[in-house]
Amino acid sequence: MDTSMKVAVIGAGTMGSGIAQVAAQAGHKVVLFDTRREAVDKALVGLRKTLDKLVEKGKLTAEQAEGIHSRITPASDLKDLAGSGLVIEAIIEDLGIKKKLFAELEGILAADAVLATNTSSLSVTAIAGGLMHPERMVGLHFFNPAPLLPLVEVVPGLATDEAIAPRMTALMQAWGKTPVVCKDTPGFIVNRVARPFYGEAIRIYEEGIADMPTIDAAMKSVGFKMGPFELMDLIGNDINFTVTKTVWEAFFYDPRYKPSFTQQRQVESGRLGRKSGRGYYQYDTSGAILPQTSVRSLAGSPPSSGDPAEVSAQIVERILAMLINEAYDALFWQVASANDIDLAMTKGVNYPKGLLAWSEEKGAAHWLDVLDGLQARYGEDRYRPSLLLRHRANG
Ligand SMILES: NC(=O)c1ccc[n+]([C@@H]2O[C@H](COP(=O)([O-])OP(=O)(O)OC[C@H]3O[C@@H](n4cnc5c(N)ncnc54)[C@H](O)[C@@H]3O)[C@@H](O)[C@H]2O)c1
Repeated sequence: MDTSMKVAVIGAGTMGSGIAQVAAQAGHKVVLFDTRREAVDKALVGLRKTLDKLVEKGKLTAEQAEGIHSRITPASDLKDLAGSGLVIEAIIEDLGIKKKLFAELEGILAADAVLATNTSSLSVTAIAGGLMHPERMVGLHFFNPAPLLPLVEVVPGLATDEAIAPRMTALMQAWGKTPVVCKDTPGFIVNRVARPFYGEAIRIYEEGIADMPTIDAAMKSVGFKMGPFELMDLIGNDINFTVTKTVWEAFFYDPRYKPSFTQQRQVESGRLGRKSGRGYYQYDTSGAILPQTSVRSLAGSPPSSGDPAEVSAQIVERILAMLINEAYDALFWQVASANDIDLAMTKGVNYPKGLLAWSEEKGAAHWLDVLDGLQARYGEDRYRPSLLLRHRANG
């Protein structure tokens, strides 16, 4: 791998510090810039601790750890980024601020430098909108924690040069990552396709079909490492609610992505999840769930008294049908290839199987039946099956 290219990372928060580590671990010299110098200092102290732990566990030698740390240089001025061949921006999620930053960078970097954004919810095309040369802008969407999660969504914008996505794909592979290429559409692959894992789980809860631990247990019984409520508490209910709202708005209020009051009330009451000690569950100081602490729904509906095995099967069928429908719809709209859609969900959010491959176990006709049944029962567009799922089921 050619590691002679200098990489600049802008924003030394959760994502930027992790991305800097990944680039330095791959052998690149990295310059790390943040408007708050203390954020860079904190990131470097954090990195030292992480590397020490990796040495203790025998995953790195002391020399390797030292090499990684020494390859990251703090920058106190944007001008210090001159000479970088790739800039990865991981600053605040604000279109205006990101556009201003990239416009400034154009005057500092060489004409062939690639400008990448780690945005989760903004359009890459919009961020590139103010540039003189939008053809060198691309999305490189890492997942949190960046050093551990292999997936990177490579997102060319409307104006991006065709050579950039293959170049970035090769680079991410060289960094030991699993890149997938996707269209510049809201939520890219993962944040779009995963929505029903949370939304449908909340809906099932709000209807009083089951309580949260039952829903979590049902999903774990088919191989998900965490249940939807446990995972929302880990992600942070504020972050998850913002993503839900952003995707819903970006799809022009498509009812499929409609947020819920349950989630909104969690945020309003400061029940943000593990980080605040309380979310859908209550946590002790070590982050373990305290028994019997999931909150009641707004309607106060009691859990269904049906047969537990049947309730569990119903929960799984409903959430899985909605997830599979999203995967088919993303494929229908050519957001990414079938292979990349399945890869994204297994490598970005640890799903036990790719959703399109999973759908084949019972066949597309089965999942279409589940969705048609839900749509007939509720009369809501939320459950409309993707045209591609219908085609597969009938074909
Ligand atoms: N946190 C996640 O799970 C996650 C995952 C994928 C992508 N993202 C995206 O990554 C980006 C960063 O998210 P984060 O969670 O690391 O945020 P964060 O708040 O942890 O860090 C952002 C950093 O950017 C700095 N900053 C703000 N404005 C700046 C500017 N104009 N120039 C330089 N530095 C500036 C801040 O001082 C802060 O240190 C966002 O676009 C977010 O959507 C976040």
